[in-house]
Amino acid sequence: MSINQLMSTISKQDSAFQENFEFNTSLSSDLRHALTQVVDHSNKQAIDKHTERGKLLVRQRIDVLIDEGTPFLELSALAAYGQWENQFPSAGIVAGIGLVEGILCMIVANDATVKGGTYIKETIKKHVRAQEIALQNQLPCIYLVDSGGVFLPEQANVFPDRFDFGRVFYNQSKLSASGIPQISVVMGSCTAGGAYVPAMSDQTIIVKNQGTIFIGGPPLVKAATGEEVTAEELGGAYVHTSISGVADYLAEDDVDAVRICRSLIQQANQKKAPKAMEFAEPQYPIEELYGIISANNKKTVDPHEIIARLADNSEFQEFKKLYAPNLVTGYASICGFQVGIIANNGFLNAEAARKGAHFIELCDQRRIPLLFLQNITGFIVGKTHEHQGIARDGAKMIHAVANTGVPKITLVTGGSYGAGNYAMSGRAYDPEFLFLWPNAKTAVMGGEQAASVLQTIKNKENELEHPLIKQFQEESTAYYSTSRLWDDGIVDPIDTRKVLALALSVVTNKPIEKGKFGVYRM
Ligand code: COA
Repeated sequence: MSINQLMSTISKQDSAFQENFEFNTSLSSDLRHALTQVVDHSNKQAIDKHTERGKLLVRQRIDVLIDEGTPFLELSALAAYGQWENQFPSAGIVAGIGLVEGILCMIVANDATVKGGTYIKETIKKHVRAQEIALQNQLPCIYLVDSGGVFLPEQANVFPDRFDFGRVFYNQSKLSASGIPQISVVMGSCTAGGAYVPAMSDQTIIVKNQGTIFIGGPPLVKAATGEEVTAEELGGAYVHTSISGVADYLAEDDVDAVRICRSLIQQANQKKAPKAMEFAEPQYPIEELYGIISANNKKTVDPHEIIARLADNSEFQEFKKLYAPNLVTGYASICGFQVGIIANNGFLNAEAARKGAHFIELCDQRRIPLLFLQNITGFIVGKTHEHQGIARDGAKMIHAVANTGVPKITLVTGGSYGAGNYAMSGRAYDPEFLFLWPNAKTAVMGGEQAASVLQTIKNKENELEHPLIKQFQEESTAYYSTSRLWDDGIVDPIDTRKVLALALSVVTNKPIEKGKFGVYRM
């Protein structure tokens, strides 16, 4: 046995284990139910119309695009969930990372059965986020385009601002300037802004009798100039491959288009993904996480028990094991990929913050990606701690997290509250990926604390307590977060190892750089 192998102290007979197990398996089945709902969404009429035209459904297109038998890391599948009366399943767009001809690619595909594949705020956020991940990790982009552009009633919320629809095309220019290949496959309508996705790609394939590209569709042309023209005459596949040159390859149908796309990726002279490595599975079954994650999110969960079920052979070489045990730091491998793990084990205090900053610098020097297991109520408060300068030590850790050059992956395993969210690489700290477990809670503080803070300030009895508690409860759930794209998706605990391995294979796709750190207050 390795000296670094973790020994679990959990008893499966324990009533707390069993209660947690019941609670977390029920969260897992809620998650699966929600995912099934968005995949098989109920707009039967739109689905029939789509398939009768000889088109594949959006996830079928991705299935035939990626290498057979390989996984697809789908991101933010529950975007827009619980909003818009659930009329925009997955926000009308599927985004994720898969292997095409052995090369890791970012795939962004419109779902034309969701309001004609048009863009609401969440659709744009998801498209832009996918491009950011591609840029950070140098992933070729494949756009499977089938979209009517902006969802017109929402134009004021999706058109003019910095990260609105225009950002998609801005990012295409930036990706292109970075030498990242972008291929569009036009499988349906590309109108107005949507026309720029294929027009700004390096190479474009268009499907006969299905794909169209135009700045203004036939109704707009008629209104503007009086000219009467069919969609096919205006900007169909023949027009663009033989007259305008806006598209480069003519495809017979969806499957043929995907086949051409695969061959273009093969010819793009890109680095292949690393071959599968040999590794030992953890010593403890991953299902046991259901019994370990606490049903009461106010309780601390010993992160060693989590790591024992995520790390290869349950090995964890712990750094500063006896010092500041509230923050657990050390090295492990996940499916053969080395990571530095930083995990909460209670409040962040001054020692823990310094230990965290030290460990980040170590990983940075050695070019080892970081995995944050975030379960944090925040930094410790009180006179003693303020006098010791907790704010200064917390600032050191936040500096280190912000400026490290190594990739960061964040998994929220419990609470993500206050400045703890920042120090543990929350969304604002640009982690390459941020995932949540279904039990995750994200908020500036707990609802009860917020209510009592406001009550104290306003010197009022109970008046504010109820609405604020309820509001905080609703706004802090994993579903609320993922619907608004504050993260890259909710992960069932039992899929965590698989998801982290895929994410690690993506972040090690490019050379890891050393960070440039600023001034640390001493
Ligand atoms: N804004 C808002 N809703 C739109 C829309 C848009 N740009 N384009 C389509 N929709 C809605 C339709 O109203 C319909 O909604 P419903 O299901 O509630 O009835 C749904 O999307 C499907 O549209 P439909 O026209 O029935 O489907 P289709 O597959 O035959 O055609 C398009 C899809 C996108 C080709 C066609 O709707 C179209 O040309 N839309 C206008 C595109 C445009 O001019 N965009 C400019 C935006 S910058």
